[in-house]
Amino acid sequence: MKVHDSGMPEEVYWESLFDIPLILDRLGIGPGLGDVAELGCGYGTFTLPVAARIRGTLTTCDIDPAMIERARQRAAEVGLHNVRALLTDAEDSGFGVDDGSQDGCLLFNILHGGGQVHFLREASRALRPAGRIYIIHWRPDVDTPRGPARETRPRLEQILQWAETVGGLEPVTGFIELPPWHWGMALERA
Ligand SMILES: C[S@@+](CC[C@H](N)C(=O)[O-])C[C@H]1O[C@@H](n2cnc3c(N)ncnc32)[C@H](O)[C@@H]1O
Repeated sequence: MKVHDSGMPEEVYWESLFDIPLILDRLGIGPGLGDVAELGCGYGTFTLPVAARIRGTLTTCDIDPAMIERARQRAAEVGLHNVRALLTDAEDSGFGVDDGSQDGCLLFNILHGGGQVHFLREASRALRPAGRIYIIHWRPDVDTPRGPARETRPRLEQILQWAETVGGLEPVTGFIELPPWHWGMALERA
């Protein structure tokens, strides 16, 4: 099932709302990572920049065929050959990667509309030991020009509770400011 309230505005506008290099730098996403899985590629806003930084394959998925088509098209346009984009409902079918196979999992702008524990469990399954889940979301504590209802946006304490429910996930950062409108954190698989 599509995550509630996870629709997208127009592409150029959406991508004006992030400082992508700053976000990836502050989360520590770079050539230290091999294979990475992403839930919900959208327009490929983070898919492409992450794929360009890592050593391995970026496997992404989306429930919306138009989003998968756009991410594939953009990867082809810039000659990125390490993007694997799967049209799938991640709630039913997972992220399309083997157990313990990934160095990282991206849960970007997705942990607000239900299924959060399920998605964290799936990310944990996909990660190798010491692999990391990277999370970003709209800040719940400030007014922002877009984003789901403020009361549905995850807070650090809430994510830590979900992680405890899953088990075997430890925070390796606190609250990381990702201006102008986002925040982020990372969890590590024991
Ligand atoms: C708010 S957008 C975020 C996209 C991207 N992560 C970003 O930050 O730019 C959420 C995306 O997740 C997709 N999505 C929602 N529910 C999903 C599901 N159950 N399985 C796979 N993709 C899903 C939506 O179609 C949408 O493209």
